[in-house]
Amino acid sequence: MVTETIHLMQQHASVRNFTTEKIPADILKQIIEAGRAASTWKNFQSYSIINVSAEATKQKIFDLQPQKSIIGASNFLVFVGDLNRAVIATEQHTDRFYPEGVENLLIASVDASLAAQNTLLAAESLGYGGVFVGLIRDQASELSDLLDLPDYTFPLFGVALGVPAKRNDVKPRLPYETVVFDGSYQVQSVSIISDYDQVQRGYAGSRRLANDWSERVAAQFGVPPQTATLENLQAKKLMAKED
Ligand SMILES: Cc1cc2nc3c(=O)[nH]c(=O)nc-3n(C[C@H](O)[C@H](O)[C@H](O)COP(=O)(O)O)c2cc1C
Repeated sequence: MVTETIHLMQQHASVRNFTTEKIPADILKQIIEAGRAASTWKNFQSYSIINVSAEATKQKIFDLQPQKSIIGASNFLVFVGDLNRAVIATEQHTDRFYPEGVENLLIASVDASLAAQNTLLAAESLGYGGVFVGLIRDQASELSDLLDLPDYTFPLFGVALGVPAKRNDVKPRLPYETVVFDGSYQVQSVSIISDYDQVQRGYAGSRRLANDWSERVAAQFGVPPQTATLENLQAKKLMAKED
């Protein structure tokens, strides 16, 4: 059975081109409140959302990370992993605070991601569109300065929201049985990768991307990760500095 909600979710496609129409403030608030209703680790809500609507600030973010969705969006929501409220709460009870480490990063990152996805879905249910912009992490420190992010916080990604000027086709996912396994994990053969490269070529059609899907994977994981995220996490006291 396909409900209206399932249909909406299956129709998702990122929108990167927007009209100049703005999302009314009361509707945006409703959208974000729907996002904030997502599940959250122990109800800690370890994230914050910076709503960037001022053109000058959007321009400054675009100058750091030139993606047209940032400048074209009605609202660019920066999702921030946030243990700053946690330090305030913890200090009520103990003078010890251990914000550093992978587990805390996962808690904040998962919470923020669930809220962000719910926010995008709520926006889509009203006919708006949007896209995640994770590459803002390449300029994590500069963005933190621009948005006055305090200790124990870090920018995760933006979600550009607005009225779609152009909609993309729904992007085919990997085949169900290559991702969803019955009972135990099944390591995949190289053929599923080449088959999916083929599928992606078909999807991209005339605006075929320069690289195959597997080449884009290699461009990400075949080189060492960028260091901007780690450096910013160290500066914000969320990761220990290596000796
Ligand atoms: C965490 C995250 C970060 C992303 N960052 C970017 C980005 O910086 N720029 C961009 O154009 N798309 C970005 N995307 C969108 C993905 O490219 C897109 O979701 C994916 O290609 C699937 O396409 P679809 O959303 O249209 O189905 C990001 C998505 C996620 C989940």
